[in-house]
Amino acid sequence: MRAVRLFALCGSLRRASVNRAALEALVLLAPPGVEIEVWDELAALPAFNPDDEESSSALPPPVAALRRKTETCDGLIVAAPEYAHGVSGVLKNALDWLVGSEAFAGKPTMLINVAPRAFHAQAQLREILATMSARVAPEPA
Ligand SMILES: Cc1cc2nc3c(=O)[nH]c(=O)nc-3n(C[C@H](O)[C@H](O)[C@H](O)COP(=O)(O)O)c2cc1C
Repeated sequence: MRAVRLFALCGSLRRASVNRAALEALVLLAPPGVEIEVWDELAALPAFNPDDEESSSALPPPVAALRRKTETCDGLIVAAPEYAHGVSGVLKNALDWLVGSEAFAGKPTMLINVAPRAFHAQAQLREILATMSARVAPEPA
């Protein structure tokens, strides 16, 4: 049986990011049969411009890589900080590039929140992902 492949996005570029640390902990704790890839290239994505996605063969290479990895994974994990009561810019930029990605709809998605007071960004992230038709795991009770 092939492994379950999860693709993780960290919405922080900070070297000592606790969100990245949480994702790296998940990689270490993943049970046999579950592979988690933490993608560390959000900073390589250009600023989202719909003009640049008119032809899928001409997508900027980091965008094409992001879409391919998102489309071929079994599920997404997103961990991101809250900045000024909002979603981090690098993560929102990446999500905007994924709106036009055909295989995104229905993608099982898990959110990690390492800072319980960061509820504004988590709520926004849920709304954004629901709008993109992701299947977002419910918040733990
Ligand atoms: C410019 C800036 C704005 C921030 N705004 C908020 C905020 O509105 N709410 C909050 O809970 N934390 C806020 N924080 C704190 C970060 O979300 C927190 O430090 C988080 O751990 C950063 O994640 P990281 O360790 O993965 O980089 C802010 C931090 C910075 C630098």
